[in-house]
Amino acid sequence: MDPQLAQKNPEFVRSTFASIAGRYDLANHLLSGGMDFIWRAKLARLVAACRPSEVLDLATGSGDLALAIKKTCPSAHITAADFCLPMLEEARRKGVERLVQADGLALPFSDNGFNVLTVAFGLRNMADWRAAIGEMHRVLRPGGTVFILDFSLPEWEPLLTFYRLYLHHVLPHLAHWATQRKEAYEYLGGSIETFPSGQNMNALLEECGFSCEAPRPLTLGVVSIYQACKRT
Ligand SMILES: C[S@@+](CC[C@H](N)C(=O)[O-])C[C@H]1O[C@@H](n2cnc3c(N)ncnc32)[C@H](O)[C@@H]1O
Repeated sequence: MDPQLAQKNPEFVRSTFASIAGRYDLANHLLSGGMDFIWRAKLARLVAACRPSEVLDLATGSGDLALAIKKTCPSAHITAADFCLPMLEEARRKGVERLVQADGLALPFSDNGFNVLTVAFGLRNMADWRAAIGEMHRVLRPGGTVFILDFSLPEWEPLLTFYRLYLHHVLPHLAHWATQRKEAYEYLGGSIETFPSGQNMNALLEECGFSCEAPRPLTLGVVSIYQACKRT
């Protein structure tokens, strides 16, 4: 399937994650060279600084971020949501407690319920980024904080060239080996190219009713953390 069409097709996304759920963590750690632990730990520390009582980890997948947040915010109630049941089953097996099957484009939560909402490597896979951010805005309390952790494009040209080589020519083969599903990661490179990066993500968040901190590029800018507060 054309990478751009795949990214915009929720059924393709759901069935792809369902098919790799059991090998998702291995693929993640392998393809990121173990950096994904560091990225989620950094995000969990930023969440703790908000001292939240109610956290929603959206597109929680196998639950690694929800578990990292549980460590840094032991007294917070953490709800972990995803629209793919086999991924939620992985999260349950790893000890995530409050799991909800939910589509990020139509969340089954009331308005203004959470102080903090996190989404790691999930928004990029959603069919309509603006609508998904609108839902995040709706379920956050005024003054609440959204954190988005996702791939971004490094600004330094030589690194960008090298990164693109990795994304389009190395990663799909490694992913095929790790997941036994070639198509699962075929669209990843294309999805990263089209996803808003750096100030473009902040511009989108501002349009959706958030006030943004400066983006935090990690690991030479191959991923970034975006932090934004729901305007009151
Ligand atoms: C790359 S995984 C990220 C999982 C986890 N957050 C992590 O950091 O490893 C993307 C997850 O987003 C979920 N997802 C994609 N589109 C979604 C949607 N519209 N609503 C809810 N979950 C969605 C997928 O099912 C998948 O579990």
